[in-house]
Amino acid sequence: MTNKNKASIHFREENKQFHLNNGEISYIFKVSSDGKLLHLYYGKALPEKDYAYLIEMHHRPMTTYRQENDLLYSSEHLKQEFPEYGTTDFRHPAISLRQENGSKITDFTYLKHEIINGKPKLENLPATYVENDSESKTLIVTLKDDVTNVEVELLYTIFTDLPIITRSARLINKGQQIQNIENLTSLSLDLPDADYDLIQLSGAWGRERAIKERSLQQGIQSIESTRGISSHQHNPFVALKRKNADEHQGEVIGTAFVYSGNFLIQAEVDTWDVTRLQVGINPFGFEWQLKPNETFTSPETVLVYSDKGLNGMSQSFHQLFRKRLARGVWREKDRPVLINNWEATYFDFNEDKLVSIAEKAHDVGVELFVLDDGWFGERNNDYAGLGDWFVNEQRLPKGIGSLADRIRGIGLKFGLWFEPEMVNKDSQLYREHPDWIIHTPDRKENHGRNQFVLNFGVNEVVDNIFNQMCAIIDESKLEYIKWDMNRPLTDVYNHRLDFSQQGEVFHRYVLGLYRLYEMLITKYPNVLFESCSSGGGRFDPGMLYYAPQTWTSDDSDAIERLKIQYGTSLLYPLSSMGAHVSIIPNHQTNRLTPIETRGNVAFFGAFGYELDLNQLTEKELTIVKNQVDFYKNYRSVIHNGTFYRLLSPFDSDNQTAWMVVSEDQKTAIVAHYKMLNEVNRSYQRLYLQGLHPEFDYQVENQKYNGTELMNAGFIITDASSGQINEQNKRPETHDFDSRVWVLTKEEN
Ligand code: DGJ
Repeated sequence: MTNKNKASIHFREENKQFHLNNGEISYIFKVSSDGKLLHLYYGKALPEKDYAYLIEMHHRPMTTYRQENDLLYSSEHLKQEFPEYGTTDFRHPAISLRQENGSKITDFTYLKHEIINGKPKLENLPATYVENDSESKTLIVTLKDDVTNVEVELLYTIFTDLPIITRSARLINKGQQIQNIENLTSLSLDLPDADYDLIQLSGAWGRERAIKERSLQQGIQSIESTRGISSHQHNPFVALKRKNADEHQGEVIGTAFVYSGNFLIQAEVDTWDVTRLQVGINPFGFEWQLKPNETFTSPETVLVYSDKGLNGMSQSFHQLFRKRLARGVWREKDRPVLINNWEATYFDFNEDKLVSIAEKAHDVGVELFVLDDGWFGERNNDYAGLGDWFVNEQRLPKGIGSLADRIRGIGLKFGLWFEPEMVNKDSQLYREHPDWIIHTPDRKENHGRNQFVLNFGVNEVVDNIFNQMCAIIDESKLEYIKWDMNRPLTDVYNHRLDFSQQGEVFHRYVLGLYRLYEMLITKYPNVLFESCSSGGGRFDPGMLYYAPQTWTSDDSDAIERLKIQYGTSLLYPLSSMGAHVSIIPNHQTNRLTPIETRGNVAFFGAFGYELDLNQLTEKELTIVKNQVDFYKNYRSVIHNGTFYRLLSPFDSDNQTAWMVVSEDQKTAIVAHYKMLNEVNRSYQRLYLQGLHPEFDYQVENQKYNGTELMNAGFIITDASSGQINEQNKRPETHDFDSRVWVLTKEEN
């Protein structure tokens, strides 16, 4: 972070207005005469002045009012920072607190505020952070409900150098009674109109994070997870895009939730076309008992404003997530080129087979060998073994330490797969602790892939898994861990909790998961963690706080991956997307794609291989070696550069293109992918982005100026255009062809 700009939070005493500003964006709200927080503005930076005129109130039929003898002041017509239900606003509230007498009515009013440099930590939760107090400013506004004596602290952090505000809320019970939190949103933002398209990243196993778009309409449009994980189905992210905005220009507001469990993001458009955007833990299945003197903190929401289209929004998310969400040594370090044995062997391996894959991998320059599922307990198939994190002696009779030594002897680092949250009934752990699984007493237990979920809401369970994992990490001196999670939660109940606390089980599970991650990364700061959930079922900002990369999808087909990686890039940086070259016919689609294209797609992620290299021809191995060299040369540009999406596979024009530009703009890597070959194809140019307008770039022995490449375009017409004859000899083209170009600044 360079601190070019200055973040300020100005409190205007005379009208009690807060103005968060960093030169790029402004966020403005005020305290009303009766202590309510009224939203005034969010968007491009505005000068500091009194914006109270933005509050509009009109007398309207069928409205209810807050003051006697007044026919104007109704919360229904106001844009608010912390809306409540039941006191004249009929839209969804930011809070629902069930009190001992059953009432859910609250009336939170302004008590005090504090402006501090930097950004406070969120206790036991992942969150973005700063390394230096000059990187951000934080406003904490405290509201109080006089009847319950509950206080809420609303946290707003504005970053100095990014068009980003983060939000969360903390409830503190200063009263004598137990309060039941039914809902506490992390963000509630009232926008003055509804002229937006809502973009979401949705899908399923194997086709995660497809870009879906719909126009906002009166009523609620929402996405959520009820599965205990953020899920393959919906990612905790939405963008509101102006109708005239596109990848490169126009206004976009993006929000992402730094949480890995059940979430709800909704946009409620009211009858006057005001849009209420809300983000938080999903109230469905949730309730939290807040005893006197206890505090409950909602996870963080990140809010990005872009006036440079979707690419602008993504670039801000990427910067923040790479530099101030991911942590530890691997945040900055080059990620190793890895080989994973899953698609190479599945459960069918022994030590010699693994070693032969590792040897070949080392020959082509791979740096890390990852042993996936099957190395532990009695895990000879997916019916047994989960929960028993000690070596599978049938498979690896000499132990895991011996295998690790052999792999290191070859010259590779060594990593292992774990699925810490799960247990099979056929395991030592389950036989000893059958009550450790999440289940509902007296009812049948539902399984997923024959496995059951350990109750991570219980410290004893987490501690047991921690100790087992430590023993293996110590024995094999692991350098990498792939942390998998292969089923959603069902039968959610915890018999150790009172009946009135059963709504806490989902969230307690997530807190237990975070606790285990925190203990492990604290004890083993040099281990690189890659999170995974049947591919990308828990690819969320919460996980990135612990594991800087995530296995993007179990669908490793290069053509399918174009959509998956393109969609994922809306929010997540390339350094976070595990992307591997796998064998053909592809195991998910049976598709045959050239090895070059498989590499050209996987380059734009955390690169690796997931096949037995012994099965490749010499010619293919040479290509693989070149791919590994290419990636090593350019991984730092790919991971630290600025990413631009150029042509979308969702626009179904048979092609995809994207590029990455290094921070100093001296190097750019451009990629173009074609799905099906065509005859007599059109002439085609790519209009490049982000180059330095005054730099000259070398590409394929030609010299072009940056302005030229961005405005006149870069010719990518391929040999499938026009007729091939003696005079016009060109290379053959095929389905699934792709090309990658490196542009380098010509130094005079
Ligand atoms: C699901 C993961 O996504 C795969 O990569 C692999 O690790 C399997 N689980 C192993 O069971």
